[in-house]
Amino acid sequence: MASLTGRRILYTGAAGGLGHQTTIELMEAGAEVCALDRDVGKLERLLADTPADMKSRLHLAEVDLADRPALDSVLARLVADGPLDAVINNAAIYPARPFEEFAIADHDHVHAVNVGAALACAKAALPGMRARGWGRIINITSITLSGGWENLAPYVQSKGALLGLTRAWAREFGKWGITVNAIAPGAFPTDAEKIHPDPEGYNGMVLERQSIKRRGNAADIAASIKFFLSDEAGFITGQSLAVNGGWTMH
Ligand SMILES: NC(=O)c1ccc[n+]([C@@H]2O[C@H](COP(=O)([O-])OP(=O)(O)OC[C@H]3O[C@@H](n4cnc5c(N)ncnc54)[C@H](O)[C@@H]3O)[C@@H](O)[C@H]2O)c1
Repeated sequence: MASLTGRRILYTGAAGGLGHQTTIELMEAGAEVCALDRDVGKLERLLADTPADMKSRLHLAEVDLADRPALDSVLARLVADGPLDAVINNAAIYPARPFEEFAIADHDHVHAVNVGAALACAKAALPGMRARGWGRIINITSITLSGGWENLAPYVQSKGALLGLTRAWAREFGKWGITVNAIAPGAFPTDAEKIHPDPEGYNGMVLERQSIKRRGNAADIAASIKFFLSDEAGFITGQSLAVNGGWTMH
């Protein structure tokens, strides 16, 4: 496995269902992780589950990513403490209801968390990455961008924006040794899945559609994140990797 020793990684939503295990795996690979999340209980669980000899490489920041001044002040502090080598834009909210029941303000709020925070994180990390000629940005999108789901318009919109930024940033930042890629998870049993009213039916539907007949887990996402963070992936940029058990194929 590629070493991430010495890499300082900014990870939004790091205390969530997919982020928790990935954060620990990144530290096991040698990285230092700046974990941003608004859920203090989940952040505390992440700290508690972090092996004692790695705790010094985990920096927790409780922040609401929709609160721009608060986010900017956290980012300024993190950058002052040391340059960031990588950014994983992972935090997301996913309110579900018919499009007609969403106010424009709801779209704006989802955009602020799922996309606006990603813009701020990339802006904060970019000068250091550029100065060192090395950087990694990973945007977590979603299988929902491939169609097949109703009632998630603001969320799907936000993931489309992240995919667009992946390509725009990859084109613009490549000359500085910075790669930018997207990972599109399929259906993983985390809080994100609780929006579906019939869990058993949903589970069966997922397994039926996947080529691989088991549910995905956080380790599957962690593996793809570690790959894009590695030196070995330095010639891959502007791409989107579907980690979905062979549900959709591109
Ligand atoms: N689980 C799935 O099936 C699935 C499928 C497709 C895409 N994804 C994507 O994977 C990523 C991780 O999802 P997950 O399954 O771990 O979800 P999750 O809800 O378990 O984790 C998201 C984390 O983001 C944090 N967060 C949300 N809003 C925030 C805010 N305003 N400020 C700070 N933190 C905030 C939450 O507290 C949570 O810890 C998301 O981008 C999601 O869209 C997940």
